[in-house]
Amino acid sequence: MFKPAITGTGVFTPDQVITNDELVESFNAYADKMNAQNAAAIEAGEMEPMQHSSSEFIYKASGIKQRHVLDKEGVLNPDVMHPLLRQRSDDEPGVMTEMALDACTKALAQAQADASEIDLVICAASNMERAYPAIAIEIQNALGAGGFAFDMNVACSSATFGLQAAADMVRSGSVRKAIVVNPEICTGHLEWRDRDCHFIFGDVATATVIERAEDAKGDYFEIISTRCATEFSNNIRNNNGFLRRSRPDGVVDRRDMQFMQNGRKVFKEVVPMVSAHMLSHLEAEGVSPDNLRRLWLHQANKSMNDFIGKKVLGRTPEDGEQPNILQDYANTSSAGSIIAFSKYSDDLEAGDYGVICSFGAGYSVGSVLVKRH
Ligand code: COA
Repeated sequence: MFKPAITGTGVFTPDQVITNDELVESFNAYADKMNAQNAAAIEAGEMEPMQHSSSEFIYKASGIKQRHVLDKEGVLNPDVMHPLLRQRSDDEPGVMTEMALDACTKALAQAQADASEIDLVICAASNMERAYPAIAIEIQNALGAGGFAFDMNVACSSATFGLQAAADMVRSGSVRKAIVVNPEICTGHLEWRDRDCHFIFGDVATATVIERAEDAKGDYFEIISTRCATEFSNNIRNNNGFLRRSRPDGVVDRRDMQFMQNGRKVFKEVVPMVSAHMLSHLEAEGVSPDNLRRLWLHQANKSMNDFIGKKVLGRTPEDGEQPNILQDYANTSSAGSIIAFSKYSDDLEAGDYGVICSFGAGYSVGSVLVKRH
């Protein structure tokens, strides 16, 4: 058995940004347009008018101030309300591969590793831009990596589940150097015409290099252990899929073909699930929460993270103990906890412990206990 270690991380951040004010202005223009179009039905009491969104609500309810996106113009156009991406030929890299390459190149540079040394690529994300061939294999090819590659999807928990898979393979020796990459184009599956959720997501890609600790060329985080858990729930769901055209009204513009959630229920049910999961993981490893230097949590909602941090540490986390990035990136699904880890882990000292933890649809929760070397 070998000790698996995280030796590098990388983040690709799209240039374009949408602030809450810009988002709300376009949403309200869309709502006004719809209300004008349906004035007679609204007047007759057959239809409820659409209500305006508000920047104050968004920040207060979520902690989000802005989001990075691949295409701002389409999302903010009240006549479009979704990203518009260029049609690519099958002979050029897909958009997920392009984002992934940027994040992987940064992660490999930090690990001082060459892409040719990689013998496992896992593309772990909430959505894949096509059914097959696997996006991971396209990324493997574009990187010039060897070995094998596969896609996996556990929604917001994809990154930690991917880390567990890669760490277990490095530990057993079936793989020597792996990269887990999370290209998340959340703007593609968000319903921008629904004020309950239109503010939630942004786009990003993250990558993490996992290899034997003995192969590390610089500072690294030993992966002490990982723990994953799932419990079925319909509270976060997207019904889009390959059987769409086979259903009577499958191809029409249906609300359930984009992200849907019962946010209140998710909040109430996931917070205790995640806190208990992390505490039992730590207990099994004999690591007291008092010995944790940092929590890198999934970035969906600030209050959610405040609750989880308080429950796990048994006190209100101090500044910097549980860094949030969601104010700048919004929810980036599986990538959120890895962005936090990538940006806020350099200052840890040898012997410090931390936990990367993600959670979301499924329900699913994954935690990775790491120790700085
Ligand atoms: N602007 C203004 N008001 C809004 C609004 C908006 N954009 N969206 C909703 N509201 C209104 C609602 O209609 C509701 O009005 P009512 O009280 O008159 O019915 C009120 O604000 C409260 O809405 P609610 O949806 O209950 O808000 P919330 O406090 O639960 O916050 C979330 C919403 C989504 C931010 C929160 O529930 C959450 O973060 N949940 C967990 C999300 C999560 O982790 N998801 C995982 C995704 S992978």
